[in-house]
Amino acid sequence: PAPRPHRIAVIPGDGIGKEVMPEALRALDAVQRKFGVPLELVPIDWASCDHYAKTGEMMPPDWKNQLSGMDAILFGAVGWPATVPDHVSLWGSLLKFRREFDQYINLRPVRLFDGVPCPLAGRKPGDIDFLVVRENTEGEYTNLGGVMYAGTEREIVLQETVMSRHGTDRVLKFAFEQAAARPRQKLDVATKSNGIAISMPWWDGRADAMHANYPQIAVEKHHIDILCARFVLQPQRFDVVVASNLFGDILSDLGPACTGTIGLAPSANLNPERAFPSLFEPVHGSAPDIYGQGIANPVAMVWSAALMLQFLGEQAAHDAMLAAIEQVLAQGPRTRDLGGQASTAEMGAAIAERI
Ligand code: NAI
Ligand code: MG
Repeated sequence: PAPRPHRIAVIPGDGIGKEVMPEALRALDAVQRKFGVPLELVPIDWASCDHYAKTGEMMPPDWKNQLSGMDAILFGAVGWPATVPDHVSLWGSLLKFRREFDQYINLRPVRLFDGVPCPLAGRKPGDIDFLVVRENTEGEYTNLGGVMYAGTEREIVLQETVMSRHGTDRVLKFAFEQAAARPRQKLDVATKSNGIAISMPWWDGRADAMHANYPQIAVEKHHIDILCARFVLQPQRFDVVVASNLFGDILSDLGPACTGTIGLAPSANLNPERAFPSLFEPVHGSAPDIYGQGIANPVAMVWSAALMLQFLGEQAAHDAMLAAIEQVLAQGPRTRDLGGQASTAEMGAAIAERI
């Protein structure tokens, strides 16, 4: 009998999400034909501001039921600030997926490719190739706190950071496992134990405790301020970097920025236990400033689809997609953010062709 297909919810969302998603589907179609990867793609038009305009909500009330049987969610981008405030569109869709599907790992590969001009002087392909592992469900991003004596001289605001042993240990474990699976056997830990004097020394202690299970891994801790400087000055020293929610958010934009354009950066929001579907999406948003011109770079979206196949156990298909991306970046055609003239569809077709 044929293997059960991977069931994928395909959500383009808003803006250039609708332009880059077809290129990811084109690449998936190519790997389906080349490797026989069995895929069942389920198109979904909600989790978008268009749906909000029609219904007054970002998603139908039974969204969780509709997605629960999926093996993964392939997501474009959400947000159309001209008509829907960003906190409504993002908290009404993407942040619900991350939290309610317990996608506690945000994984962002950072890599400098041949053919992509590097904003850091003197860096060549191979110098920058690392993973940022960000905690995605707790930490500094909470809704615990409040304002007292609002509008008076005594006004006070408090916002709590929450770090649980459960939440911290599971992201550290994931990061150590990633480091253990890579040749360099090295993990860098973001901290700020000199300034955030309660939670960050505790975080460091959890990292030490987890390190005892992985004695072969070399661990280095960096305060977040100098770590940012080192991303720019010495990017070659990193292999896997693990960070709390806030620090990981900052590092996972800074890292890709050091490798050229935001149009390349993919991300995976993972529930490693597979109790819920994981979500794969470009780092970039809906880019209203370029939407409609067909010039968005499709690589971040295609690479996100490759990460999805890797998570679903289709390593050969992932490798073929990445090799095709590498070749097209090196030889063209390239979109404008890379200094070329190609359209989204021309670059996407070239990637599918190479697969
Ligand atoms: P953005 O990432 O959409 O755009 C930032 C800049 O990068 C723009 O100049 C854009 O043209 C350019 N850019 C982005 N992706 C590109 C691509 N693939 N090819 C070429 N150029 C590209 O961020 P911005 O403008 O801050 O946000 C726009 C909307 O997207 C907002 O509603 C925001 O909330 C939302 N957003 C959604 C995200 C998500 O769905 N995960 C992530 C970030 C922003
Ligand atoms: Mg961010």
